[in-house]
Amino acid sequence: MAYTAANSSSADAPLPGIIGASSAMRAVYGITRQVSTSRASVLLLGETGSGKELIARAIHELSDRKRRPFVRVNCGALSENLLESELFGHVRGSFTGAIDNRTGRFEAAHTGTIFLDEINSTTPLLQVKLLRVLQEQEFERVGDTQTVRVDTRVVAASNRDLQEEAAEGRFREDLYYRLNVVPIYLPPLRERREDIPSLVTHFLNVYNEENDRYVVHIDPRAMEALQEYHWPGNVRELQNYVERAVVMATGDELTHELLPAVVRGDNGTPTRAFRKYDFDSLAVQLVHEGLSTADDESTDLHSRVVDRVEKEVIAQVLSQCDGIQIKAAQRLGINRNTLHKKIKDYGLDSGENGASDKAG
Ligand SMILES: Nc1ncnc2c1ncn2[C@@H]1O[C@H](COP(=O)(O)OP(=O)(O)OP(=O)(O)O)[C@@H](O)[C@H]1O
Ligand SMILES: [Mg+2]
Repeated sequence: MAYTAANSSSADAPLPGIIGASSAMRAVYGITRQVSTSRASVLLLGETGSGKELIARAIHELSDRKRRPFVRVNCGALSENLLESELFGHVRGSFTGAIDNRTGRFEAAHTGTIFLDEINSTTPLLQVKLLRVLQEQEFERVGDTQTVRVDTRVVAASNRDLQEEAAEGRFREDLYYRLNVVPIYLPPLRERREDIPSLVTHFLNVYNEENDRYVVHIDPRAMEALQEYHWPGNVRELQNYVERAVVMATGDELTHELLPAVVRGDNGTPTRAFRKYDFDSLAVQLVHEGLSTADDESTDLHSRVVDRVEKEVIAQVLSQCDGIQIKAAQRLGINRNTLHKKIKDYGLDSGENGASDKAG
């Protein structure tokens, strides 16, 4: 896709491949264009599925680094040690398994852009190291004393409120301020409902093309339901539902029946009521309930609670991803084979989902 120079189109016109002309999104396009020509660190904030990665790529594509590497690292997917070596590299013998020297992603992104996704999941130790790269553009590989200098532009993303994380001591304040030079907030879909019709049309086109289908009409009732739904998974969720509707359609219309029950509003899930409890107190309550079902002799308290939660998170993410395990593994931040095994272990593979590796 061709990115136009900032001066050849109006400053807040939609960016290539990014749909939505609501005023909230236009503001996003405006800042994106403006920061892309600088070297400033950018912090992308917004709920899951709201388009942070799209904007991260757009910043790179619009910048004079566009012919240089764009390197994405999902900070949430790796343990502290692995992430440290992934980001900064290591020297041979610095830890068990370090059989060779390895350059890290900061070096790989030299002269280009590194996208630190889910930056909120980094540990305090790594946060110190990241602060130094941001400030001094230098670091040492794991197990090395020699300092490496890089010219790597940093774009970071968090689907947590980083300011709050910092206020509660879970994220270093100095790093937060250093990253927050230019924050870009991706508004949730429910706050820009006027973008829904164009997104639906866009994804209909994409999936018609991909599946050789011709779903070009939208039942007004379906559009109404789509407009009213609260979209906790934002654009990604919408995209998945449109894909499923296209695949399952028997005619040329996206009908109300093709939408999942949650969108049609008839599955009775008390999602909204649930939301008034905050996550932490729900966790306390959940663990309490789990423990109360065990007797004094029990020696499986950990798995009793944790496995149940794990099963639930896998089931829900799998359903958000339409049963497509490769997507779910990516969203969960776990290895695909691990996910496959867990799906079997938890008996989650008995569904009717044709998209899963093993259709039931
Ligand atoms: N405005 C948009 N126009 C077209 N597609 C979009 C838009 N926003 C998001 N998408 C699509 O939705 C999906 C999710 O977007 P993206 O990966 O950028 O979200 P995210 O904010 O990074 O989510 P997460 O926090 O879960 O990583 C992608 O497939 C992306 O292409
Ligand atoms: Mg993302």
